[in-house]
Formats: sequence, structure tokens, C-alpha cells
Amino acid sequence: MHMPVLLDETISSLVINPHGIYVDCTMGGGGHLRSLLSKLEDDAQVLAIDKDKQILEENSKAIDKAGVKFIHGDFRNLKAIMKNENIAQVDGIMIDLGVSSFQLDNAQRGFSFHEDADLDMRMDREQELSARDIVNKYSEKELLRILFEYGEERYARRIVKSVVNYRSEKYINTTLELVDIIKSSVPAAYRREKHPARKTFQALRIAVNSELDALQGVLPQALELLKPAGRLCIITFHSLEDRIVKRFFQEKVKGCICPPGMPLCICGQKPQLQLVSRKPIVPSENECLANPRARSAKLRVASKL
Ligand SMILES: C[S@@+](CC[C@H](N)C(=O)[O-])C[C@H]1O[C@@H](n2cnc3c(N)ncnc32)[C@H](O)[C@@H]1O
Repeated sequence: MHMPVLLDETISSLVINPHGIYVDCTMGGGGHLRSLLSKLEDDAQVLAIDKDKQILEENSKAIDKAGVKFIHGDFRNLKAIMKNENIAQVDGIMIDLGVSSFQLDNAQRGFSFHEDADLDMRMDREQELSARDIVNKYSEKELLRILFEYGEERYARRIVKSVVNYRSEKYINTTLELVDIIKSSVPAAYRREKHPARKTFQALRIAVNSELDALQGVLPQALELLKPAGRLCIITFHSLEDRIVKRFFQEKVKGCICPPGMPLCICGQKPQLQLVSRKPIVPSENECLANPRARSAKLRVASKL
């Protein structure tokens, strides 16, 4: 079971009109979706999107409610998805980033560094690029960028060196093969801290699924699709994601993009968003105890002006 993070905080911030139209861009196990549906009247409409067809098919079976439409798609194409559904504006959009427990716990999907599986990590299995392609085919420089940027892995250099040496002899096919390469290249003290493959796996997952590009891409589309007073709720799990959301919100709250010191505004840009809470909402200690995955979560909520 996927335990939804910041569930009440997200849904109570999202629902401004129980008869409205809402989008769950990351349906996953459907935890947020179920709670959202429980707050809506029968005439409300919900679009539940996920790029993982298997997740969508399995979880949609258990949610039988009129007014919900399940869509296999990438939220980075949100405007096109809405156009296809003949929906121009919505009351609320939520995005709960990262992987779902269904993906992590399904060993064959290759997301877990605890289970032996093909190095896959694709959320959308119709996509061609997998973690195996990245690990075996990307240049040393590109691998380093991925591990530094997306994993903030301090031993990126050592790990990438070992990967490049290993793959000059043999193709790296499985998760545990990669875990062994990582373990053999980091200091023993680091191996004892947390799992030494944690950051490399996170970095590869982000790269395989173009997670940061998708997030950058969806934000302006979501803003455009919201009705006035409509809510945008985004749950992030690491600083890279949170920084993107925070900066977008700050820019749209401020409006004007003239350089500081200009006596008069010449850009003419007006504020488009209002923050619902100035600081991000974080899980309670109790939630973190019950669900360790919640520890790094941050919910940011904004309202369209
Ligand atoms: C953290 S889970 C969502 C969990 C869900 N809120 C729940 O309560 O069960 C994230 C889900 O978003 C999906 N996802 C990630 N990036 C996506 C994207 N760009 N477009 C559509 N779905 C995406 C993943 O496949 C995964 O199922």
C-alpha cells in the first residue's frame, strides 16, 4: 500500500468548490484521489493522470465513481490532455511527485536497490530510455552531471569511474550489479551511514523519467488552466524539486520582472498567484514516524489571482 503523504493538508487546501473540476496529476495508489473524491459532490469532475499504465489500470479498478476519468499520460502535457478532454479551466490541480510504493515494491521495475532486477526505472514502460541505457551508454561527463546534480552524491567521481571501468569489460544489466559497483567504490564509513546506492538510484530515476523537466514544464500550464481562486498544490520530496516550485511561485506572486532599482515598472507583468501559506507545509512528527517516506515532504499551495 502506498501511504499518501500530507493527505488532509493537501486535500483541504485543494478543494475550494465541492462541485468543481479537479486534476490529480499523479494518481499513483489513489490515496489522495480517494480523499479528494470524498470531499466532492456527485456533479464534480476529476481527471486522474499517471504516466505508469500498470498503476493506472490496477488502481482505477478499485475506484468506481462517476465523474472520475483515468488518463494515461505525462503531466508535462497537461494542456494537451485538458484540450483533449474539452476542459478549459479547473478549480484545482495537485501534483505529488516521486515514485509510488507500487513502483518501489515491485522488484521487476528496477527502482529498488534492495531487490535484484533489470536496471529499468521507467515510470512509463512505453518509453524507450531506461536506467540501463544511461548507465551503459552515457558519457563519463554526463553520468557525473547526473549523479552530482540529481543525486548530490559526494562520491560521484569514484562511482562513475568504477561504472566506466566495469562497463568497459561487461554490460551492467541489473540493480544489484550496480549496487556492488557502488559499494566497491565508496569508503567503508559511507557504506555504514545510509545505503550507499541511495543517491545514485535517485539520480538515475530522475534522469530516466526527466522528472525535473516535467515539473518545470507543467507549472506554467497549470497556472494557465486554473480558474481565478483555483488552487495549485504540489508535494515535493527533495530540494531540487522544491526549489523549482518555490521559484515559480515567487516569480508569479511578484509579477514584475524589471531589474531591481528601476524607478518605474516597464515589464507590465502583474502578480498571478497568491501563496496560501507563506512557508511550505511539512508533515507532523507523528506522520513521519508512521511513514518515514514523509520526512522530506513539503507541500506548497498557491491560489490563482
Ligand atoms: C508519489 S506517487 C503518487 C501517490 C498518490 N498521490 C497516492 O496517494 O497514492 C507519484 C506517481 O506519479 C506518477 N508520475 C510521476 N511523474 C509523472 C508525470 N510526469 N506524469 C504523470 N505521472 C507521473 C508516478 O508514476 C507515480 O505513480
